[in-house]
Amino acid sequence: MYKNMVIFGTRPEAIKLFPVINALKQQSKMRCEVLVSAQHREMLDQVLSITGITPDYDLNIMQPGQSLDALTARLLEGIGHVLDQAKPDRVVVQGDTATAMVGALAAYYRQIPVSHVEAGLRSYDIYQPWPEEVNRKIIGSIADQHFAPTEVSAGALKAEAVPADRVFVTGNTVIDALHWITDRIAHRPELAANLAELESRFAGKKIIGITTHRRENFGDGMENIASAIKTIAARDDVACIFPVHLNPNVRAVMDKMLGDEPNVAMIEPLDYPHFARLLSISHIMLTDSGGVQEEAPALGKPVLVMRDTTERPEGVTAGTAKLIGTDKNRIVSEIFTLLDDDTAYSAMARAHNPFGDGKASQRIAEIIWNASRQKT
Ligand code: UD1
Ligand code: UDP
Repeated sequence: MYKNMVIFGTRPEAIKLFPVINALKQQSKMRCEVLVSAQHREMLDQVLSITGITPDYDLNIMQPGQSLDALTARLLEGIGHVLDQAKPDRVVVQGDTATAMVGALAAYYRQIPVSHVEAGLRSYDIYQPWPEEVNRKIIGSIADQHFAPTEVSAGALKAEAVPADRVFVTGNTVIDALHWITDRIAHRPELAANLAELESRFAGKKIIGITTHRRENFGDGMENIASAIKTIAARDDVACIFPVHLNPNVRAVMDKMLGDEPNVAMIEPLDYPHFARLLSISHIMLTDSGGVQEEAPALGKPVLVMRDTTERPEGVTAGTAKLIGTDKNRIVSEIFTLLDDDTAYSAMARAHNPFGDGKASQRIAEIIWNASRQKT
């Protein structure tokens, strides 16, 4: 039987791939195995646990403060070894992490075809986001199926001379994931109930939800962000809820600079139901995340993006997202404008779905199934 191997390692890949895995498993005439590198450990396990995905292979690769070199080397050996054992007919990777890039490369070394979920995102700056822009391009040069979330990303691939019949506009599977989790919480509100204590402590204040982790923002960028949050949180009418990424380069700065701020709740990374709850109670999202740039527009939450460029221009075009960089004064003034100017706020706070309709995974599974039938 035709065997797909879905490979991933980090929190956002798990969120964006669990709906694809579920859709592939519904195709009864194909097999679907799951290989996790565990490039992330705790943050990956949070997603596996809530979505009920059980990996067939777990490389348990994460080490504290891992370098790109060492991570990449461990991934290549580990993934290659599993591919030699499992001999899949197709490998499926998502996005732009080290695991995704090496998963595609290891498959290519064995001449196994590769499907790329969330293909064609481009910032056209190889250092922003770093190293994700180049990871995506490497995967794009290997894949024979490119699942572009939007016409913009499909257009980028065609401009790079990827044959049009290999590019499929599917929507982004993050919207499938968001629909799934929203539905789960509606049926079982207790899944997202652990923020209740913070919600009552901050009652009457406008919540700013914050995430940050980009490598290109380490150092000065992180210090600017922390300093801006300190100034913003000095206002009585706001409170910041900040699930801090486990990367020590983020934690060290935030602990040092924001440890004693009464209006800043620095908390552990939230599992997906609780993060969905944070999105829904937040007045504004302040982030450098890729996924949050896609989720916030779907929920009509203004999202200020602490980056100079984005490979996800659709949220900016729709008016829900704004690129603001990492200059302290700019971050503060953009937040204050949204807090104080109702017209500016309303202009951004409108729900848009530029990233899809929640059926991307189904489309992807069908395309993979059709291609597998042509092969056999
Ligand atoms: C990685 C991806 C990035 C993605 C991000 C999502 C690469 C090169 N980077 O960046 O594209 O946007 O994940 O969050 O692929 N850590 C833990 N526990 C965890 C996760 C991380 O302790 O569950 C700590 C470890 O010390 C680890 C460090 O964070 O060494 C960095 O993890 P890593 O995956 O290398 O980089 P991220 O910054 O998370
Ligand atoms: N997320 C989460 N818990 C958190 C922070 C984020 O579940 O505490 C989710 C968020 O909903 C989004 C994804 O993680 O789907 C984004 O991951 P991250 O920002 O780490 O990576 P990126 O998207 O930038 O690659």
